[in-house]
Amino acid sequence: MREKWKSSFGFVMASAGAAIGLGNLWRFPYLVGNDGGGAFLILYLIFIVLIGFSVTIAEAGLGRYAASNIVGSFRKIHPGLAFAGGLGILSAYLLFSYYSVIGGWIIKYAVTYLTGRSLENPEAYFADFTSQVFQPIFFQVIFILLTGFIVYKGIAKGIEKYSKILLPVLFVLLIVTAVRGITLPNAMEGIRFFLEPDFSKLTAKTFVDAMGQVFFSLSLGLGAVITYGSYLDKKENIIKASVLVPTIDTIMAVICGFAILPPLFSFGLGASQGPSLMFVSLPLVFSKMFMGNLFGMIFFLLVFFAAVTSSISMLEIITAYFTETFHVSRKKATLILCTGVILLGIPCSLSFGVLSDFHLFGLTVFDLFDKLISNILLPVGAILLCIAVGHIWGVKNAVREVTNQGTLSFRLWRIWGFLIRYIVPAVIFVVFLAGMGILRV
Ligand code: PHE
Repeated sequence: MREKWKSSFGFVMASAGAAIGLGNLWRFPYLVGNDGGGAFLILYLIFIVLIGFSVTIAEAGLGRYAASNIVGSFRKIHPGLAFAGGLGILSAYLLFSYYSVIGGWIIKYAVTYLTGRSLENPEAYFADFTSQVFQPIFFQVIFILLTGFIVYKGIAKGIEKYSKILLPVLFVLLIVTAVRGITLPNAMEGIRFFLEPDFSKLTAKTFVDAMGQVFFSLSLGLGAVITYGSYLDKKENIIKASVLVPTIDTIMAVICGFAILPPLFSFGLGASQGPSLMFVSLPLVFSKMFMGNLFGMIFFLLVFFAAVTSSISMLEIITAYFTETFHVSRKKATLILCTGVILLGIPCSLSFGVLSDFHLFGLTVFDLFDKLISNILLPVGAILLCIAVGHIWGVKNAVREVTNQGTLSFRLWRIWGFLIRYIVPAVIFVVFLAGMGILRV
């Protein structure tokens, strides 16, 4: 018997947990700020409505229909599509490998603040820590093993149970951080940076960023939602759940903007890109803020919960495939897979230290994985999904599945079908070409 979620609430919590992660806390605030504030936000919301909801419904529907891992799900539609599932497995594996590097750093920072230490010189601290060989790998391995433990526990007793605990806690911590953020002196400056629309910044790059962010943040294009959907009971309402998850993720992303940007501007810092935002600029703020250590601790705990609930979805994608294909136990599968992720994760970690000069295609291993995932694998995966669901399985069959054989109403089904068949793949394709520099707009 395949495992199932205890309820659709469990599915929503687990899926929202998968969606809310570093994408919201880290990528979203600076993307919005740098790519035109409110103007970017409007574009992002349009992509959420056009692409986010429809692809989530398609993924969840396919997963529940097939009740299988992602390779099995694609294969059920057509045996020739198994490779699309394989691509998802590869994406999840690469993604977990580099995500766990940041996961390890987060644990290190959380521990530092928990033990009451304040960082006097965050820049030097960060540079020193990340360039070491042993320490970052040690914390990365802890992050991978914690993820492995939850996935090993299974769907209801592992992923669902922990998501139901961690997500509400995360929400409370985020609200505390956001309220603190917007009540700091000069918070308005950060809010203005976040939300003031600058339509002159809407260029091809903005479109690429906005779409990439929709995929990354909603965990689409690599089969996370297919996998989670495959544990849904036939009675549950997929459409409702698939609207709820992107909505929760988007609300949380906006709250993250309020939590993170005002403090930076309040202390005269800007929103830097990449790792330094979270690991240098914010600790600098905490070191100057009243009760900064407490807020530093709250913040890194929050980020840790967000990261773990996301990484379990990555590991579950591969674990589901592995257990169902090679008929090994969950315990053995998670052990083997975590070892594999550690092996691939080590060069990612070292690319901030001894391997920083080692470049492939002009990028460090870490950056290469990141670009490969967001710019190529996720969009390609999503296009394949649209073709598989919209053209091969067929809109009528898919609608029958998501409406529980016609017993639930889905008034917008024609629009959904049109989006999945034509609009979503076309938009992704154009933006993908622009992102690769093949199409100049
Ligand atoms: N959505 C997660 C985040 O925002 C990242 C993620 C992508 C998780 C794909 C699972 C699958 O951090």
